[in-house]
Amino acid sequence: MTARTLQVGALTKRFPLPSGDIVAVDDVTFEVAEAEFFTMLGPSGCGKTTTLRMIAGLESPTSGSIVFAGQDYTRVDARHRNIGMVFQSYALFPHLTIFENVAYGLRVRGMANDDVRSRVMRILELLGLGALADRHPGALSGGQQQRASIARALVYEPGMLLLDEPLANLDAKLRVQMREEIRRIQRELGIMSLYVTHDQEEAMSVSDRIAVFNLGKLRQVGRAEEVYSSPATPFVADFIGKANFFKAARQGDTFALSNGTAVRPKQVFALPADEADVAGFDTVIMLRPERLRLDPARGKIPCRILRRQFLGGIIRYSVEAEGAKQTLTIDAPRDVAGGGEGSGAFLDFDDGDAIAYGNAR
Ligand SMILES: Nc1ncnc2c1ncn2[C@@H]1O[C@H](COP(=O)(O)OP(=O)(O)OP(=O)(O)O)[C@@H](O)[C@H]1O
Ligand SMILES: [Mg+2]
Repeated sequence: MTARTLQVGALTKRFPLPSGDIVAVDDVTFEVAEAEFFTMLGPSGCGKTTTLRMIAGLESPTSGSIVFAGQDYTRVDARHRNIGMVFQSYALFPHLTIFENVAYGLRVRGMANDDVRSRVMRILELLGLGALADRHPGALSGGQQQRASIARALVYEPGMLLLDEPLANLDAKLRVQMREEIRRIQRELGIMSLYVTHDQEEAMSVSDRIAVFNLGKLRQVGRAEEVYSSPATPFVADFIGKANFFKAARQGDTFALSNGTAVRPKQVFALPADEADVAGFDTVIMLRPERLRLDPARGKIPCRILRRQFLGGIIRYSVEAEGAKQTLTIDAPRDVAGGGEGSGAFLDFDDGDAIAYGNAR
């Protein structure tokens, strides 16, 4: 028996334009496991939707392959892919009830009336819409409409669910509720799901694994903890949470900061050529705000405190230091003695918390 995995291999999409081709998706390879919640995360224009549309069969790849459960899907027509898709716009038929909206596709496929009724009601109940079956979309809230569009995608019992920013039209509070709801339904059905968002918190809170995209390229795939604590590129470090970059020079396994201090980072990654501007320098040391310590008397790097903000659980300090890419952020668990705005201080950290990006030694 073939495992019901999705394998995306060297997937590439070029759009020809008069001003030159756009490479929307550039040599992207990943695998999604059965029943996994897999999120594609990245900024606007990084190729998330194009990747999803190629998996759905709505866009044909320029090159590369898509294999699902052992079947080559690369050139298979969208209608024969056994995939459910949910878009940002709900696209419900306004003149049909919620029941009929969800039933529509089953009727088109010629399913018998009794079967349609039981299938539709079961999925509406699962999504908490049973009592609203006879209403029209106009009489539902945004969250209810989005749930109806998810019901419509799930009613075919697809092997895979694709969701493209399904919560983008909802207000912040409802977004948080609905993402938990989607996660619950996904777990209950055990359905492989590919979820697209540009919201890193949303991605971290619901996903089994996250794929971080930038400029059409897949930069890293991993669990939320992995991409946060071991970001494979400066872009990933900067996009998932906050990153502090320090200029460094490589000397074998150690890296010298601009004041000469030697650092032995826990990991060293290559710096992609198209991310030099993110890092600020061609070799850098990266530290998370909660891994930097501020001390009035001693530390690896002298600095000046620009701003102190009380944020409840943490105190956030903004400081400037020589060799830093930009103003640094330090999240301290408590007030630092002598940490007033304008004072001089030192930054310290454990080498085991530092990540380096640079070119070959
Ligand atoms: N049909 C098309 N013709 C030409 N260029 C396109 C086409 N569709 C997408 N693109 C371009 O491909 C790139 C990737 O687009 P895509 O829609 O996949 O991005 P995205 O990551 O989904 O962004 P967003 O978060 O804004 O939805 C963009 O530069 C976009 O302008
Ligand atoms: Mg998109």
